[in-house]
Amino acid sequence: MDLPSIRSAYKRYALTYDAFFGPIFAGGRRMAVQLANTAANQRILEVGVGTGLSLPDYREDARVVGIDVSPDMLKIARERARGLSQVEALLEMDAEQLAFPDNSFDSVVAMYVASVVPHPERLLAEMQRVCIPGGDVLVINHFASNHPVVRRMERGLRPLSKILGFRTDMELDSLPRLPGLERIDVRNANLFGYWKLVHYRHDEELPDGPLTGEALAG
Ligand SMILES: C[S@@+](CC[C@H](N)C(=O)[O-])C[C@H]1O[C@@H](n2cnc3c(N)ncnc32)[C@H](O)[C@@H]1O
Repeated sequence: MDLPSIRSAYKRYALTYDAFFGPIFAGGRRMAVQLANTAANQRILEVGVGTGLSLPDYREDARVVGIDVSPDMLKIARERARGLSQVEALLEMDAEQLAFPDNSFDSVVAMYVASVVPHPERLLAEMQRVCIPGGDVLVINHFASNHPVVRRMERGLRPLSKILGFRTDMELDSLPRLPGLERIDVRNANLFGYWKLVHYRHDEELPDGPLTGEALAG
């Protein structure tokens, strides 16, 4: 996946996205928002906010910033956000190079985005960097199945990733174990546990500071 193919795939999806991907992903979105938005007046970043389907689920006293690389998806999110007091901003931005200072948000969420971005390890490092120490980082995504037949099908679909707009066979382990980012839970979300919610906590004390996307890229 690269940014031009992502933009082009989600330009195609934008108008029908809510009808297809609204209901099936709804349970996981609510679960992630509940874990991210646990207290009053939190500032929360949602990366790959898409058409903003999750925005009404945040508390009214939250300050939610959503970012996405697709202007077509963001356009719909902006319409949805009208009248939602919890939405602070919706910005066009690459999740792998966030334009926010370190420790800007109480929690950071990525829903159904990790298998779309070109470098999931950079996505996770950036989510950690902008999250305050002690804050929550949540990733919900489909990961490659353990069932041999389903797994073969997922592998078979890999060449279609650019057209589909996501990788069908992403391994959970392609989200790296980063220093200072503790994986505290992995739980099933949505139908049959086909999607999983991975809950990280950004440690209070970091040994050498968080890795950045650049550092990871070497
Ligand atoms: C499957 S959609 C998920 C949208 C939304 N999170 C939801 O729950 O429906 C994936 C979204 O990630 C966005 N995306 C992909 N790569 C991105 C990147 N590098 N930076 C920001 N957004 C990205 C896409 O444009 C798309 O809107």
